[in-house]
Amino acid sequence: MKLVLFASLAGIAAAQTQPEQVTFTKDVAPILQEKCQTCHRPDTFAPMSLLTYEEARPWAKAIKAKVIAREMPPWYIDKNVGVRHFKNDVSLTDSELATIVKWVDAGAPKGNPADMPPPRKFEDAKTWHMGEPDVIVQLPKDIIVPAQGADRWIDVVVDSGLNEDRYIQGIEVVPIKGFRSVHHVTTAMKHEDDADDGDNVQGVFLNEYALGKNADMFPEGAGRMIKAGTKINFNLHLHSTGTETPINVALGLKLYPKGYTPHYNEITEKIGDPKDLDIPPNADNVRFEGYQTLAKPARLLSFQPHLHNRGKASCMEAIYPGGHKVETLSCVSRYQFAWHLVYLYDEDEQPLLPAGTILHLISWYDNSPGNKFNPDPDNLITYGQRTIDEMGGAWVSYYYLSDEEFKQQTEARKKKTLTKTE
Ligand code: HEC
Repeated sequence: MKLVLFASLAGIAAAQTQPEQVTFTKDVAPILQEKCQTCHRPDTFAPMSLLTYEEARPWAKAIKAKVIAREMPPWYIDKNVGVRHFKNDVSLTDSELATIVKWVDAGAPKGNPADMPPPRKFEDAKTWHMGEPDVIVQLPKDIIVPAQGADRWIDVVVDSGLNEDRYIQGIEVVPIKGFRSVHHVTTAMKHEDDADDGDNVQGVFLNEYALGKNADMFPEGAGRMIKAGTKINFNLHLHSTGTETPINVALGLKLYPKGYTPHYNEITEKIGDPKDLDIPPNADNVRFEGYQTLAKPARLLSFQPHLHNRGKASCMEAIYPGGHKVETLSCVSRYQFAWHLVYLYDEDEQPLLPAGTILHLISWYDNSPGNKFNPDPDNLITYGQRTIDEMGGAWVSYYYLSDEEFKQQTEARKKKTLTKTE
């Protein structure tokens, strides 16, 4: 009798100190809705749907492995180095990650069905988030993606129809047909005046589309010039889904009014592309670098490394004038060719760099058999546009500042940082 009493008291004590059990309906479903279901739902290119408990349960172990490795959701920049906050961060927070792991470790329990949040609503893939564009450029004819086959990368050049120079205020790409087979799209501007050094075969980067992507809007007073006669290069990553699928995509541009010149002209430039690439067969951690000097003070807005299948990592650092100070700005430490992600710096952390700063880009490659994306580790790899060749470099967006603006913005940043840390 005494013993039974003792045991039940202990049971009460344990219930009081133990945190509540993590369940699917209460804790995990809201995270999956926000961070996974944009892609993991029926009729997209992701391998499985994660809408319900019954769908997610069989994947519990794989989910734990992918989130711990930070391979899912796709977001590969190192948030512990350099700039840490991004406008478009879709990654899991540390506490969301811990919740998922706890749930899997506890045997992935369902929990009370009444806790399940209402299903998330998804909008039509064809929605323009920025409103009806002023200019729409689409592929002149559908591309047929076969039912079976390896992923394909295709470039299509289309006339923009613009016959005067204008400034862009917003950019968006939407898949207007067959979004299930469109893994991603990048768009770029090509113009006959562009220097043709074999580098800009795809033109000057405009933006990228992947599932769940919204419009890129410039802040009031900032824009990007599009010249009369510009052509748009669509680079498409297409994916077979078991059914033959016609696809088409459209680029929409919102323009500033005629005659309006924004104060800041945003530039996107490929920096540090190493043309002398020479990656020996069966070698890992092969390192190449490139440099770009900023002619004027500048405010950096985004970072997007561009390597191919042997690409492993990419870091950008600032070498300040005089070379006395070097600062790491960004590192994508697990580069993935399948995901063309642009990392947009948070307003408060956009690097402010004085004139004469050298942007130093370091790229690493893995040409060993250990790289599962490596089509042939026995090949010597050199620079080239084909996906079986390599590239390096990163697309970096920035705008130049006057000396006065640079001073003001640096002062304002200092003040803000001080109040934050006080
Ligand atoms: C932007 C789209 C996207 C988002 C968001 C996303 N996934 Fe994925 N996921 C994919 C695609 C595409 C694949 C298959 C190819 C790959 O692994 O890159 C995949 C693969 C996976 C796999 C491996 C499946 C297998 O076949 O082994 C798991 C597990 C997974 N995702 C879980 C998640 C979880 C959990 C989240 C949210 C925390 C998430 N994903 C967010 C697109 C996405």
